[in-house]
Amino acid sequence: MTSSPRHILITGGCGFIGSNFVRYWLDRHPESRVVVLDKLTYAGRRENLQERWGQPNLTLVVGDIGDQDLVRRICVEHGTDLIVNFAAETHVDQSILGPLVFTDTNVRGTHVLLEVARELGIRLHHISTDEVYGHIRDGHQSVESDDLSPRSPYAASKAAADQLVQAYAITYGLPVTITRGANNVGPYQYPEKAVPLFSTNAILGEPIPVYGDGLQMRDYAHVHDHCTGIEAVLLHGKTGEVYNVGTGREMTNLEMVDIVLDTLGADHALVRHVTDRPGHDRRYSMNVDKLRALGWAPTYDPRQAVAEAARWYADNRWWWEPIRSGEFRAYYDRQYAERLAGHTS
Ligand code: NAD
Ligand code: TYD
Repeated sequence: MTSSPRHILITGGCGFIGSNFVRYWLDRHPESRVVVLDKLTYAGRRENLQERWGQPNLTLVVGDIGDQDLVRRICVEHGTDLIVNFAAETHVDQSILGPLVFTDTNVRGTHVLLEVARELGIRLHHISTDEVYGHIRDGHQSVESDDLSPRSPYAASKAAADQLVQAYAITYGLPVTITRGANNVGPYQYPEKAVPLFSTNAILGEPIPVYGDGLQMRDYAHVHDHCTGIEAVLLHGKTGEVYNVGTGREMTNLEMVDIVLDTLGADHALVRHVTDRPGHDRRYSMNVDKLRALGWAPTYDPRQAVAEAARWYADNRWWWEPIRSGEFRAYYDRQYAERLAGHTS
């Protein structure tokens, strides 16, 4: 695939990775026309693209990817030739507290997009995650042909979507591609996720709740490198194929916390080891050679990625202060009040 898609429907474009991708794509492909379809859940925010909304080649439709008539109408009206599906419920801890909406959006919503794509003959690119592989034993790095073994409601719903997308390629010959991203960090990530939560807590002088021993391992990749990876697959990827996107290098959560606190000049005494997440995956690790073979390479190492993300939260209080003082507070108390009251260190 080498021709650049022109009429793109980007679902979840008001979320963290989606908004970074919309900005990146429009800068690199100004001839494209982009429609963002977003339900504007708590994680979806117009202000993530606030300086872009006047742009003539960018349109926002507020709605649900599970609304088949709406998705069909958008695709017909805008002559969509590519759907890129970022829309999802995305937080593991939220999926433990309230899992059903994860099935509604991540499984059924993706299925609706596939049905419309099949009906109208549209290419679909799906954003999946390394969490579909489950936790990875020491010494192994997940490759795209590995079996999926998800362990949280979030990961299970993403694995179901991933497999539905592959089933549509096999059964109907639908032109699809999939990327499986590592833990992303960077601007506009909702502060329920670890790096923005720890960064904003450190700035506010609040405790840093580390689950369990903090020795779980993640590949913290900068969202910019995820965007370039998706672009590489959209332009040069092979139909029906899956590509891992990450740095290929992991660190422990305690190492990540050290980088955040050092970058922000915050006190390491803020760290609290609290009750672990149920079913917490110990390690994610991916081999990214297949994507590298398309000419892509990450530009950030994980340490730089985490440090740069932490700095963004220090420089952009305008973005997260209203979030943290609003509905987020109720979630925070539900998730952390008891844990912090009974913390283990
Ligand atoms: P996010 O939670 O920041 O944003 C999700 C967006 O989807 C929001 O704008 C939300 O309003 C929208 N949305 C939710 N339900 C919807 C629905 N039913 N219809 C339309 N829009 C809806 O998520 P993110 O971190 O940007 O993740 C984007 C995608 O990347 C997801 O598919 C996620 O599974 C995947 N992913 C994320 C990471 C990560 O580290 N954040 C890593 C790998 C893959
Ligand atoms: P998170 O950003 O939620 O991503 P994921 O669970 O999808 O990997 O969490 C990253 C890591 O940080 C993960 O191992 C869980 C851990 N974590 C904490 O220790 N404390 C927290 O408060 C949060 C949100 C996460």
